Amino acid sequence: MESALDYHSARALLEWQVELGVTEAILDAPLNRYEVPDKPAKAKPVATAEPETPVAALEADPVAEARAAAQGASDLEALKAAMAAFEHCELKRGARNLVFSDGNPAGRVMIIGEAPGREEDREGKPFVGRAGQLLDRMLSAINMGRDTPLSKDAVYITNVLPWRPPQNRDPKPEEIAMLKPFLQRHVEIVAPDVIVLMGNISCDAVLGRRGITRLRGNWQEGFGKPVLPMFHPAYLLRQPGAKRESWADLLILMARLEEMP
Ligand code: URA
Repeated sequence: MESALDYHSARALLEWQVELGVTEAILDAPLNRYEVPDKPAKAKPVATAEPETPVAALEADPVAEARAAAQGASDLEALKAAMAAFEHCELKRGARNLVFSDGNPAGRVMIIGEAPGREEDREGKPFVGRAGQLLDRMLSAINMGRDTPLSKDAVYITNVLPWRPPQNRDPKPEEIAMLKPFLQRHVEIVAPDVIVLMGNISCDAVLGRRGITRLRGNWQEGFGKPVLPMFHPAYLLRQPGAKRESWADLLILMARLEEMP
């Protein structure tokens, strides 16, 4: 029977019950524990084989494994496959899709967002919900876009996390640290001229700093590239008054691209 609960809700429910002091799971049908079985049950053979979980798996270092997997990927397809095969992130278990990227990898600008939301999880593409539509309008205001065939006007889009966090909660620091090697390799392979960081989470992942109100509009260096932090489009939907600053940031981006060879 398929459960109506998704993985994360079921897990939260179970954790809550354990917190309440529940120590036993009760079956749907009553079980008479006083009933004498017809025949004594056969004694289970004592396990002499290897334990099911090898010691190496218990000692796994997810960040080191992510680094090794990411470094082994020589192109985008291999990187996507390495991420799909990475088993250490709990988020993967509750997500419908791995959201890898969208846009033109030959584009001069690489945009890094936070994590997929519901629509992105469903479609397997970053920034396709309301925030994504606003992002597309912002890009078209400076004659750029993810579907633009000309690489000089094209952007490539990805996120810090490829799997949707439950209920769109903020990514945890350990999730960011675990998946950062994949993001760094992603940037190395795409090799954009500049990177735009959308919001605090991507600033945290790439620059190790938060405080978007101060960071926005000022060029920094991250992963060896010029990096421009901007307000996240989801924030602009909540605070339309901040669009003025974002327009200024788009002009800063355009000016930098014009002065670069
Ligand atoms: N917000 C993000 O940061 N990324 C997405 O892909 C969608 C919404």
